Amino acid sequence: MMRVTRTRGTIRLITTAILSVAITASLTFQPDHGITTHAASREPVRARHGVVAATNEIASNVGVDIMKRGGNAVDAAIAVAFALAVTHPAAGNLGGGGFMMIRLKDGRTTAIDYREMAPAAATRNIYLDQNGNVIEGEGGSIEGYRAAGVPGTVRGMELALKKYGSGKLTWTQLIEPARRLAANGFTVNYNLSRSLRGSREYLSKYAETKRIYLNNGKFYNEGDVFVQPDLAATFARLQQRGPNEFYKGHTAQLIAADMKRHQGLLTLDDLRGYVAKERQPLRGNYRGYEVISMPPPSSGGAVLIEMLNILEGYDFKKMDWASSDRYHLMTEAMRRAFADRAEYMGDTDFAKVPIAGLIDKKYAAQLRTTINPERASSSEQVKAGKPAGYESEETTHFTVVDTDGNAVANTYTLNNSYGSAVVAKGTGLIMNDEMDDFAAKPGTANLYGLIQGERNAVAPRKRPLSAMTPTFVLRKDGSLWFTVGSPGGPTIINTVLDVITNVIDYGMNIQQAIDAPRIHHQWLPDELVFEPYGLSGDTQNALIARGHKLAKPRYLGDAEGIMIEEKTGMRLGATDPRRSDGLAVGY
Ligand code: DON
Repeated sequence: MMRVTRTRGTIRLITTAILSVAITASLTFQPDHGITTHAASREPVRARHGVVAATNEIASNVGVDIMKRGGNAVDAAIAVAFALAVTHPAAGNLGGGGFMMIRLKDGRTTAIDYREMAPAAATRNIYLDQNGNVIEGEGGSIEGYRAAGVPGTVRGMELALKKYGSGKLTWTQLIEPARRLAANGFTVNYNLSRSLRGSREYLSKYAETKRIYLNNGKFYNEGDVFVQPDLAATFARLQQRGPNEFYKGHTAQLIAADMKRHQGLLTLDDLRGYVAKERQPLRGNYRGYEVISMPPPSSGGAVLIEMLNILEGYDFKKMDWASSDRYHLMTEAMRRAFADRAEYMGDTDFAKVPIAGLIDKKYAAQLRTTINPERASSSEQVKAGKPAGYESEETTHFTVVDTDGNAVANTYTLNNSYGSAVVAKGTGLIMNDEMDDFAAKPGTANLYGLIQGERNAVAPRKRPLSAMTPTFVLRKDGSLWFTVGSPGGPTIINTVLDVITNVIDYGMNIQQAIDAPRIHHQWLPDELVFEPYGLSGDTQNALIARGHKLAKPRYLGDAEGIMIEEKTGMRLGATDPRRSDGLAVGY
């Protein structure tokens, strides 16, 4: 029986605490940041010059090839992003958007925001029916023609290349590997074949999508060659006419015409008006290590730094990694930061967001006083805090470090797997359903069960709030230590948190930190998610005894990361063993 009385629970907790201290004390283990080999993880991929860690091996190879030809990390990242639009169509995209964090070898860091924008016709209640209920299915924010925001990927890559590319490779050259993969085809692997079959119902809703991605109902099997002539032609037009082709040229007309035919929201004017923006990254530090991450319109950086600030007040070195003590504190930090996310966060170009207050150490100290080290809080009682000072189920992350030490951490997405399921006729590209990241009706849950507030309500030309968290962590001397990011909707932020604390507090290398089982809590629903085999039965019972509600186990995230080895400068690439056909490739 799972029922445990309070007294028994307390006794059990005390026993756990004593045990974990005893275990920690008896270990000779000293964090050495990965020099020790751990049985449970393979070694990261080691490279002297450059490395790409992406969720798809073909795309990683494309990036390495660009670096071998003299390109820098930004050039390589652009080519990888285009290649993933071909080989990883559930998330890689031209029809979506995302965030690229760049750290140059001289230490300058910047964030390129190419998040989708709401079409001009998207007003506050656009996804509500006459009774004020959220519209499900076609017409709503998840599926079909009205779900798409204005794609940002092409403008984002344009901006990155213009400002931070090496200048040695052209736009046309960086697109060429993707065009070739689309025109000549590539061999479908197990993961892609499984993903396409798994989404067969969704992808069958629209004839054009079914024709291309399901081979007209005949499916693609492992080993088949997948050729995408329409997408290849779109890439060729982008090569010939430049990025404006997507926003003002023939491609723009094809997208707008298809949207108009099906009562979509997006127009030619919306495409013309899209802008990618360069933003100041958010900076925090955890136990003296600087953490640099994505600012709004992603919530990722702020929520991550808020959680790290809360956790800094606890001595994890005294807690066993697998102890319920550690899981308890991680969960309570997650609960509080996600409550703040729901209340305070949105596109800062439209809403006032107290970012400085949220990532302030004093605010974290105040939140810590509300955490009972023994008992779970209830999310119903945890409301957003009062930070000071106002100021301004498929995604993919990849990361690149080049031979000079420039680094890119990029997360981009169509939102849901295969986005809105709409291929704009004649373009071969899938449109996103990023409009669901807005609060269609503030206070009600979205696709990921996230409750979001007024600041993230729909408005024309606004960007929906994201959880994507491409992140850099620096050593105390200011050099790059590691980069990390992941897909997974709201779980992204906690996946990045887990990896960072695994490295800093428990001395894992990047592969070990990514492999280790993760947890997730997002305030509401009030449940602690863990991974299959991720928590022992004893630990589950200890957490239940403290008052946590455990959800059904499921896998969390698909993290990719690169760490720079301190003594040698070697680049250590790591991809996630959970669900990817990813591979870090280096040279
Ligand atoms: O921007 C966001 O937060 C979401 N659109 C990300 C979606 C996602 O990660 C789905 N992947 N599993």
